[in-house]
Amino acid sequence: MDPLTILDQAVAGAPASIAAASSLDELDRVESDLLGKSSAIGQVRRSMGEIDAETRPQVGAKLNQVTEEILSHLEQRRRELALAGEERAFREDATDVTMERVRLRSGSLHLVQQVIDEVVDIFIGLGYQVAEGPEAELAWYSFDALNTPSTHPTRWDTDTMYLAWGDPADEVHLRPHTSPVQVRWMETHEPPVFIVVPGRCYRKDTIDATHLPVFHQIEGLAVERDIEFGDLKGTLLHFARQFFGPASEVRLRPHFFPFTEPSAELDVSCFNCDGGDPACRVCKGAGWLELLGCGMVDPNVLEAVGYDSSELSGFAFGMGPERLAMARHGVDSLRHFIENDLRFLEQF
Ligand code: PHE
Repeated sequence: MDPLTILDQAVAGAPASIAAASSLDELDRVESDLLGKSSAIGQVRRSMGEIDAETRPQVGAKLNQVTEEILSHLEQRRRELALAGEERAFREDATDVTMERVRLRSGSLHLVQQVIDEVVDIFIGLGYQVAEGPEAELAWYSFDALNTPSTHPTRWDTDTMYLAWGDPADEVHLRPHTSPVQVRWMETHEPPVFIVVPGRCYRKDTIDATHLPVFHQIEGLAVERDIEFGDLKGTLLHFARQFFGPASEVRLRPHFFPFTEPSAELDVSCFNCDGGDPACRVCKGAGWLELLGCGMVDPNVLEAVGYDSSELSGFAFGMGPERLAMARHGVDSLRHFIENDLRFLEQF
């Protein structure tokens, strides 16, 4: 066939096959089909030497023109495909910022924990240290060293939860109060002692508005030379005014605990009424709220831990943060603290 005709045909079909290439790889193949050695154009290029001298310039010019034309089509298609590829990559790599995220609601501390922190802070302000002890306890710490005789009902398995029960030497129970930490601290520390002990306690009580089998206490213990009953009252008055408000008054009523002598219960004046309002929702007209147990550390306790009771004296107290929270916030049942009802918890 006449080389000029071959070139005409080749260039006529080129735009369609170039446009049909849908990827850069495919376009490379189309390029070699159109311009490579074995392509129609390639063969014309190789046979230039055999073309007679008269028509050779004309064929040569045509060959260049056709090649240029095809190259410019290829270049344009190559740009299109590259652009499309970039766009696709953009789309595929894009982060979908509209996606639903996992929402973690920020919560708050449980009211009882808030009260524990607040009480502990008040005593830290007075120079007390924070101490802790185990929840699984031995009879020595919860009872014997605390001057509590083996006949005391709190030691029975109807009152205290035992993990191991039977042989008094091996008994392990869940502590019914935080007072054993008094003993643990004094056995391992020299006086003076000024500690507060927040912690969880256990008793065999059925759940009702005023009892929980698992609850908290905050113990306080001060031991030094010359500590007197007035120091106990002054300390607890300071605490009551910090916690319930500066107008608070306290009163002590005689009571009994095996490990304090004398022992007392501390009441705080009602912060809601000025006393004697029978309709008061906080004190129900009593004018006072029962707050905690306290007393002067019994000399037998000091001797049990190896302290000299003729040199040292001290006071101790134990309070229930659940009870403090109920009193200050008008909570009518301990059940609210364990029911996990957000409508209750979110109020604090
Ligand atoms: N441990 C006593 C209780 O659980 C409270 C208390 C502590 C009383 C310290 C006096 C001194 O009831």
